Amino acid sequence: MADFNKRKIIVTEDGSHSILVDDINEAYHSDRGSWQESVYTYVTEGMLTYLRKNPASNHIKIFEMGFGTGLNAFVSLLSKPENVSIHYCGIEAYPVGQEEYSKLNYAALAQKESQPSFLDLHICEWNSIQKLSDSFWLEKLEGTIQETPIGSGYQVVYFDAFSPRTQPELWQPAIFQKVYDSMDYGGVLVSYSAAGIFKRSMQAAGFWMEEIRGARGKREMVRGIKM
Ligand SMILES: C[S@@+](CC[C@H](N)C(=O)[O-])C[C@H]1O[C@@H](n2cnc3c(N)ncnc32)[C@H](O)[C@@H]1O
Repeated sequence: MADFNKRKIIVTEDGSHSILVDDINEAYHSDRGSWQESVYTYVTEGMLTYLRKNPASNHIKIFEMGFGTGLNAFVSLLSKPENVSIHYCGIEAYPVGQEEYSKLNYAALAQKESQPSFLDLHICEWNSIQKLSDSFWLEKLEGTIQETPIGSGYQVVYFDAFSPRTQPELWQPAIFQKVYDSMDYGGVLVSYSAAGIFKRSMQAAGFWMEEIRGARGKREMVRGIKM
């Protein structure tokens, strides 16, 4: 069994940090750029796509499989329209520690101040809903996706697990059934992956799926809709 806590910070091609897990030689993000991957794959193709299709929506619930560095939560916060509030729930089995998150360069890369700050996302308590501003609530669940109840009512899901090669158990139909059941109809799920096992599991759970262009360095990615 790989030790997911043996890891180090690396710099990706767009200058943003990521974390590399030594035992599996796999990083948390694309080596072509963590920041660009988060902006494109999750925020543009996930959150903003949902909001474009549902212009009357002014409060959304986002669920993230693998909270990790908190980058996707931070970029979502920076990119959300002013009139939209977010309840962001992220599950994480191996939380990133203070000695790691305090070194990540994401706050420096942001073009603007945010409320809450990047550090606030990490400092706040786990396993309860934290109001971090008038328009941002954060719920960090410590545990595995297999065993932890994840709540319901999500309109957007970021599925950001390690690859099916490394953790095939996280790409099985039962996982996607659990996520599907937690989502509202019309909800959107996005992931950087376009692997066969992922597409088959999504289909088995009942998602309608489309393959779209991936972030830099990836030919395609998958977006699923709960129809
Ligand atoms: C590809 S990384 C993505 C991290 C995060 N989205 C980010 O941007 O930093 C996958 C994440 O899933 C977490 N993870 C691994 N196994 C898990 C499990 N069974 N349940 C929940 N999280 C898990 C890892 O610790 C890691 O943080």
